[in-house]
Amino acid sequence: MEIHYSRRMSACPPSFLGELFRVSSDPRIISFAGGLPDASLIDVEGIRNAACEVLQEHGREALQYSTTDGYLPLREWIAARYRSRLGIDASPEAIQIVNGSQQCLDLVAKILLNPGDPVGIESPGYLGAIEAFSLYEPSFQSFPVIPSGPDRDSLGLLIRRFRPPFIYGIPNSQNPSGITWTGDQRRMVAGLLDGSCTLFYEDDAFGELFFDQKPRPPVSRFLPHQTLMSGSFSKIISPGLRTGWIFAPQKVLEAFNIVKQAADLHSNLLAQMVLHRYLTTVDLDRNLAVIVSRYESNCRLMCDLLDDLGRDGLTHTTPEGGMFMMAFLPEWVPSMELYKKGLDYGVAVLPGVPFHTDGRGSCSVRLNFSNTDEGRIQEGMTRLKKALLTFSTR
Ligand SMILES: Cc1ncc(COP(=O)(O)O)c(C=O)c1O
Repeated sequence: MEIHYSRRMSACPPSFLGELFRVSSDPRIISFAGGLPDASLIDVEGIRNAACEVLQEHGREALQYSTTDGYLPLREWIAARYRSRLGIDASPEAIQIVNGSQQCLDLVAKILLNPGDPVGIESPGYLGAIEAFSLYEPSFQSFPVIPSGPDRDSLGLLIRRFRPPFIYGIPNSQNPSGITWTGDQRRMVAGLLDGSCTLFYEDDAFGELFFDQKPRPPVSRFLPHQTLMSGSFSKIISPGLRTGWIFAPQKVLEAFNIVKQAADLHSNLLAQMVLHRYLTTVDLDRNLAVIVSRYESNCRLMCDLLDDLGRDGLTHTTPEGGMFMMAFLPEWVPSMELYKKGLDYGVAVLPGVPFHTDGRGSCSVRLNFSNTDEGRIQEGMTRLKKALLTFSTR
């Protein structure tokens, strides 16, 4: 039988993720290609206790249908955290719970994009956003963030020329590059957008994973009426609970609520109640300090070993937090070829091409430093060096 797929399916880029899962599950391969948090740092015991308490005390409520906007005490917790951590005056009514912040990408595109509409996106940009937006058949307009965050001229031109419904960016420890926007860049982006008809979609998946305590105000602080900000418990507690949120102006939330309800009625209430119980009974900041210190030492080690490889023209970003960095290869090493050669030597890196909507990325790779350890980083970099040495210089 011939299946007639919708037109939007042909707009969906071929996914590299299936290949990635195959590679990541092969025990002979040291993979820096994936993007998982370190499972050994998930507080299974704490979550088990929270789940038992919720089921014992509020089992019937937790297992019943609920409201689309999400469990109010959890939204109150998120609003309070925004106030204490970022100085944002958020109300729980301005926050809606979603099934992982990945769902925001789909639903925001659904309410804002018609086929052919321009959408602004970083180059390189988050692969999951490119995949989610592609289903709405937009015309991607990219702005460079390499080597050091967004550039005023390119972004200003993009906004004036294309007037996109929204621009999507990750100012904190970007996936894939690991770059963090400076305070000036955040103000600059807000200034360029202020008063235009373009919203800013600020994806803050990694804002709690900085290696230092420097204040980094979100763009939302400078542009509150034009910014939608998404957040997630995936990187700080557990991705399997699939719980994230969107914080947005009321008008946007009203539309968002309609499509969220049509998509799935509401997010998993049991997961929301367990999360809330967990957050109000454990010391989150102490747990985060452990996660961040592990990621920081992995990141430093990876940077040092990449510096040793750098004699032949390899450079890399130096993240201030998050889970990823990007390495830039000498011109005679195509990233796709390095990916294949790396597998022969038992190491996986993720080629830069799928992170670009403009055909670039053939000389960069993304490296993950969260789901690994010192021994595997040492061994993986030795293998990567062997793979690199098979490419002759020109
Ligand atoms: C930048 C960014 N945004 C959103 C997501 C989606 O995360 P989740 O749906 O688990 O919240 C990810 C996942 O890795 C990500 O890297």
